[in-house]
Amino acid sequence: MFPDLTRDDVFRIETPRLWLRWPTVQDVAAVTAFAGDKQVAEMTATWPHPLPDGEAQRRIFAMRKTNALGTGLSLLLVPKANPRHAIGFIGGRFEEPQCFTFGYMLEAQHWGEGLATEAVQALIDAVFTLTDACEARAGVRVINPASRRVLEKSGFQMVGSGLDTCPARGGRLPCDHFRLGRRTWKALKGWRAPSFDRISIDVGIAALEASVAAGELAATPSPPRPTAPLEVCA
Ligand SMILES: CC(C)(COP(=O)(O)OP(=O)(O)OC[C@H]1O[C@@H](n2cnc3c(N)ncnc32)[C@H](O)[C@@H]1OP(=O)(O)O)[C@@H](O)C(=O)NCCC(=O)NCCS
Repeated sequence: MFPDLTRDDVFRIETPRLWLRWPTVQDVAAVTAFAGDKQVAEMTATWPHPLPDGEAQRRIFAMRKTNALGTGLSLLLVPKANPRHAIGFIGGRFEEPQCFTFGYMLEAQHWGEGLATEAVQALIDAVFTLTDACEARAGVRVINPASRRVLEKSGFQMVGSGLDTCPARGGRLPCDHFRLGRRTWKALKGWRAPSFDRISIDVGIAALEASVAAGELAATPSPPRPTAPLEVCA
């Protein structure tokens, strides 16, 4: 369950280029535009194409209700540069206790800019920080390499495949299943930038070469090549 903090529609998450905020009735036109796009809808399990009249409004109300109850969190992606215009959606809920299942979509004209990855990482940070979730899950149609890549860049691992129920696509379709556990997320968040950088390595190498040239150090001979093939670590 989400805490009181996220259950009020003033809640928002900031990313480098986006605000993730609650949907409102004023977003109906924008949601209809991006979710009504065939190439967007056909990669989702639950968004029909064409989008029936009033569907965007019904879904916005449903998202707000879930957000208010704290059983899920659904947010719109809004560029900081144009905060009135929603360009995507991300959201999910606790389908099982401590397991957050989510999905996302983005207006096609913004594909390839890294925005979905930015939103996924921000939402997952919120889920693991604000709830007691042990894991986050997402399913991806096998014909959707972009979504798969978004999840991989966010630390998710593929844990299986199967025929998933996709009501808006008319039945069951082959999908890959991805998972990120809290412990893996915690480890990745602690994996910061290296404590050395390229410049300090270059400076170190230059100093070493100068010492060798000045005769202060003997040049180290190359180690002998191994005679047997090296073992490859999995
Ligand atoms: C999936 C989706 C949200 C991705 O949004 P996005 O902002 O373009 O994603 P990002 O830019 O953060 O990352 C996309 C990655 O996929 C890669 N990619 C895109 N198309 C690809 C393709 N055909 N094959 C392989 N990789 C592809 C990009 O190169 C990028 O990876 P990189 O950063 O390593 O280069 C967007 O395509 C979308 O809304 N699709 C329709 C709805 C959908 O699929 N929702 C998800 C349902 S699970």
